[in-house]
Amino acid sequence: MKYIIAPSILSADFGNLQRDIEMINQSEADWFHVDVMDGVFVPNISFGFPIMAAVKKHATKPLDVHLMIVNPDQYISEFAEAGADRITIHYEACTHLHRTIQLIKASGCKAGVALNPHTPVTLLQDVIEDLDLVLIMSVNPGFGGQKFIHNTYKKISDLKQLIQGVNENLIIQVDGGVGLQNITTLVSAGANAFVAGNAIFATENPSETISSMKSLTASTINI
Ligand code: DX5
Ligand code: ZN
Repeated sequence: MKYIIAPSILSADFGNLQRDIEMINQSEADWFHVDVMDGVFVPNISFGFPIMAAVKKHATKPLDVHLMIVNPDQYISEFAEAGADRITIHYEACTHLHRTIQLIKASGCKAGVALNPHTPVTLLQDVIEDLDLVLIMSVNPGFGGQKFIHNTYKKISDLKQLIQGVNENLIIQVDGGVGLQNITTLVSAGANAFVAGNAIFATENPSETISSMKSLTASTINI
């Protein structure tokens, strides 16, 4: 089993963005997690295409773009052109989720759907075969550095059950309040991709923290 560590550049120092991108390039991280917030779907605005382009210019690893925006259909092709390798949209932001997933795939990107803490995984039952990834939000989206919501463990096991015999290669990603203190338990529960912002960038040696997260995933027994 391969475990993915995806540092969220939302917690990077934007004044030293290139330095932080290089740190991720040189580290054991697998993807760049790019959090796009529109101030409508979530109560915060992060950044848009210019920052995305700057990240793409220097990043040597895939860009995992998490769109916390309403009406994502309008921007899928633009994000794909800006260099996204994967695009994850929110279940709660899509009236025609099936169509949006197909749009992402048609743009050449891998498709993911994110679920807010209140949204049950069973609502994905009829699109689960079409997905490459499901992102379980373990905080309410909008800000880095929030407290992990414990019910996430139950949702991971619900999702594992849902993909059984249907789409077992689906990536189960967890985002929000993830760090050295809970990554082992999350691996045991069945998650295989981990987004971390604060837990990486607020530490003295972010690259070393990424290595520690990676080795914890490798040493955990998946039950
Ligand atoms: C929250 C974002 C997360 C955030 C995670 O809305 O989707 O990706 O950056 O930050 P931490 O790891 O600090 O909770
Ligand atoms: Zn995110």
